[in-house]
Amino acid sequence: MKSRIEEVKARALASVAAADGTQALSDVRVRFLGKNGEMTALMKLLGTVSKEERPEMGKLLNAARVEIESALAAAEKAARESELAKRLAEEEVDISLPGKMRLPGAAHPVTMIREEILNVFLGMGFSVAEGPEIETDLFNFQLLNVPKDHPARDMQDTFYLGDNLVLRTHTSPMQAHIMTTCRPPIRVVIPGRVYRPDDDASHSPIFHQIEGLAVDKKITVGDLTGCLQTFAEKLFSEDTKIRLRPSYFPFTEPSVEADATCTMCHGKGCRVCKGTGWVELLGAGIVNPAVLDMCGIDSKEYSGFAFGLGLERIAMIKYGIPNIKLFYENDVRFLGQFR
Ligand code: DAH
Repeated sequence: MKSRIEEVKARALASVAAADGTQALSDVRVRFLGKNGEMTALMKLLGTVSKEERPEMGKLLNAARVEIESALAAAEKAARESELAKRLAEEEVDISLPGKMRLPGAAHPVTMIREEILNVFLGMGFSVAEGPEIETDLFNFQLLNVPKDHPARDMQDTFYLGDNLVLRTHTSPMQAHIMTTCRPPIRVVIPGRVYRPDDDASHSPIFHQIEGLAVDKKITVGDLTGCLQTFAEKLFSEDTKIRLRPSYFPFTEPSVEADATCTMCHGKGCRVCKGTGWVELLGAGIVNPAVLDMCGIDSKEYSGFAFGLGLERIAMIKYGIPNIKLFYENDVRFLGQFR
């Protein structure tokens, strides 16, 4: 019995010494000290030893057990510490690595200027409406006092989709949609995409407009002027002035072009305004009585003013942007400047 105890103890201590890592040590523990382990088996053998020998064998067995247990505990502690040290070294964070940059997104400058302009008109009591980009010849032209073969058609080069269908060349057809379906008083602004076969530094085949329409009793050029003056002050700056120059549009009579004092030089003359101190803002006028009547609004009782502006053009003025194409290239170096 004694030699069995010595033999098992020696093997146990050798196994502890040879075990590499906490998992191996735990296997050793089970093999020798576990419920079905070798030391436990020896305990059970104690019953078969003679009464005289039993106390001594019991003592030996216990001492062996304590020795194995303490060798195991020491080895386990050392293994835990070295495994932790290894993991810490492996999982070290390299704080010199550049971080992952997440650039915040932003609205497109055309979207921003649209919201800004719509807000100014909402503040003046206008509502917002939208309409189709494919229009009939009737709404895009005829109800706006441009009959077929009228020379005024040449003012707006047109993408035809058939004899009577066009990609709308302006947002003005929405004037006719609204006047044929709503009764005055009308105060509405209409943002939207429009199409013309034009392509250069200040023209794009697709661009954006906002149309404005007010119809009521006794509307005059004074109302139009006041409305546009307020608009220019709110959009640019308090000291912005506007001026109206006579012009021609078939759907307004009289028609005007509205200029604003240049936002860059405040009227002194610079590159943006080509030295004149003024920049062209939009087209406008008093709604032609013929248009009111064609749309079913009695021109003897009502009058109105209307205007149409190009969003890209306004953004180009406001931010001093030299080429309209910059809006459509989606170069983040350009777009990021408007955040
Ligand atoms: N529809 C015109 C264009 O695209 C702009 C315009 C001028 C709109 C005068 C109007 C207006 O409502 O009254 O060139």
